[in-house]
Amino acid sequence: MAFAITQTCCSDATCVSVCPVNCIHPTPEERAFGSTEMLHIDPKSCIDCGACADACPVDAVLPVERLTGGQREYARINAAYYETEEHRPEQPVRGPVFHDWGAPSFDRVLPPDFGPLRVAVVGTGPAGMYAARDLLLHTPAEVTLIDRLPVAGGLVRYGVAPDHPSTKKAGESFARFLTHPRVRLCLGLEVGGGVTADELAAHHDAVIYAVGAQEARRLGVPGEDRPGSAAATEFVAWCNGHPDVAPDAFDLSADRVVVVGNGNVALDAARLLVSDPAALRGTPIAAHALAELRRGKVREVVVLGRRGPEHAAYTRTELLALKHLPGVNLIVDDHDPAVGSAIDEAAARDKAAALKDVRREAVDWSLPPTADGPRRIVFRFLSAPAEVCGEESVRAVRVTGTAGEVEIPAGLALRAVGHRGTPPAGLPFDESTGTVPHDRGRVTGRPGAYVVGWIKRGASGGIGANRVCATETVGSLLDDAVAGRLPTPTGSARAFRRLARRRGR
Ligand SMILES: Cc1cc2nc3c(=O)[nH]c(=O)nc-3n(C[C@H](O)[C@H](O)[C@H](O)COP(=O)(O)OP(=O)(O)OC[C@H]3O[C@@H](n4cnc5c(N)ncnc54)[C@H](O)[C@@H]3O)c2cc1C
Ligand SMILES: NC(=O)c1ccc[n+]([C@@H]2O[C@H](COP(=O)([O-])OP(=O)(O)OC[C@H]3O[C@@H](n4cnc5c(N)ncnc54)[C@H](OP(=O)(O)O)[C@@H]3O)[C@@H](O)[C@H]2O)c1
Ligand code: SF4
Ligand code: SF4
Repeated sequence: MAFAITQTCCSDATCVSVCPVNCIHPTPEERAFGSTEMLHIDPKSCIDCGACADACPVDAVLPVERLTGGQREYARINAAYYETEEHRPEQPVRGPVFHDWGAPSFDRVLPPDFGPLRVAVVGTGPAGMYAARDLLLHTPAEVTLIDRLPVAGGLVRYGVAPDHPSTKKAGESFARFLTHPRVRLCLGLEVGGGVTADELAAHHDAVIYAVGAQEARRLGVPGEDRPGSAAATEFVAWCNGHPDVAPDAFDLSADRVVVVGNGNVALDAARLLVSDPAALRGTPIAAHALAELRRGKVREVVVLGRRGPEHAAYTRTELLALKHLPGVNLIVDDHDPAVGSAIDEAAARDKAAALKDVRREAVDWSLPPTADGPRRIVFRFLSAPAEVCGEESVRAVRVTGTAGEVEIPAGLALRAVGHRGTPPAGLPFDESTGTVPHDRGRVTGRPGAYVVGWIKRGASGGIGANRVCATETVGSLLDDAVAGRLPTPTGSARAFRRLARRRGR
């Protein structure tokens, strides 16, 4: 018997630091950690102690014998990871092992007479919360946590799909730091709006910007601003009751929806649109969204990939979840022989192989989706959007590809083509990457300013990727503090509290 890691793993590596026999890989020191979709337990070395399951913030670790339905596949996925030569540990581990990786212990580098730093963290998404956590657990710092929204959590609160309750639990592990005695929480306060970057800097030893990537990328095709065309992130935010998205923002009366892009956000939107609303009832979905999904008529969601299945951006774990969605059929549109060949010829470890057991069908777009039977998600690869067509509102999406051009009739078009940062007030910004230029988290040319998360790395990686990123940034900040490189604040903590009270929402 062994434990296995399942779908909701967000690769934060918490389990790695508690495993007594080092049988969870890749670890943050291993090269594969940068690109892995999830971590894996070696069933041959696992001693079944359960420490990883206790430590996991998103309940992703389960005993193999408790896996049910589609989860059973994860026993194979975990074991298969260790069957490839490059992942097999050179020396089988016979515990115990003492990891040199784990939560950073910065207190080692701080001199004993080091006074508490006053650090502002802008943004309460995963990146900001991992940074705050490192500061609170490992230094005597006082932390001002700021968010422009009235509720903390960033994309864990307003991005993670409501039907992923285990992933939402990551928010609970962050929430305990919001009420930490050394935290001053300022919600509904925008930096660059209610308070300026200079004011923030003047009242703190250092400021960490964890403001995420706030802009959904655009398609740059005619018609994308038509009513009925929106960002998939906005749709998911609507499902999560985001205060900036009106309850009547989405009309789901069309029978077909096109989602452009095939990353995990595209799959989240597709899954929510075709799920049985009854199954969503016990989730934290907003009441207005559930009501509209119940009233709505969506029968089919077309997920458009401009490249082939070997280049799909979704993770295998999220695709696997779709395959087991009750009452929903998955189809690959067989419009171009190159798609079928890419799937048939894919080696087991290639991305396209995950579609081998998915039915292929040449879809006739002149016909409406079938009104009864299972709802469908259709993957159409090698097809780029050329126009969002319509008059008053969206009528179709015109796509071009190797097999020619076609209009796919649809009443709603969602673009899920990634995100980019917007320039944070008072900081330098690289327009080409949509990030703030930095050196290991230190903002270029701005002593005392740091970045972490998507505004530092660009909009990729799940929740856990921000943990390692935060460790690097907080490490740089503390090195600068010890070396005397931080500017001295001119305003007191009390003065900032007064300012925040006056300027907040
Ligand atoms: C729709 C969606 C679903 C996702 N689902 C998953 C999932 O299921 N599992 C997973 O592992 N990963 C998921 N991710 C990825 C994950 O959410 C990101 O890795 C993570 O949120 C990035 O963290 P961040 O802190 O950099 O940004 P964010 O989470 O965006 O946090 C940024 C915070 O900064 C605040 N802010 C911005 N500007 C200002 C300002 N000027 N003043 C004050 N506050 C400001 C924002 O309000 C926000 O709270 C998802 C991403 C998206 C887009
Ligand atoms: N459940 C989860 O764990 C979860 C859920 C949501 C998000 N996330 C994470 O959050 C990050 C962001 O996800 P995301 O889905 O927003 O972005 P993403 O993974 O970067 O995917 C973007 C998709 O859009 C396509 N695209 C880009 N520009 C396009 C254009 N002009 N026309 C057509 N297609 C275009 C890309 O195709 P090309 O490859 O051809 O560029 C890609 O398929 C990812 O790391 C993701 O894993 C995780
Ligand atoms: S979410 Fe973190 S703790 Fe849980 S299995 Fe994945 S890496 Fe391990
Ligand atoms: S059950 Fe124990 S031995 Fe097995 S992977 Fe988890 S922590 Fe390691």
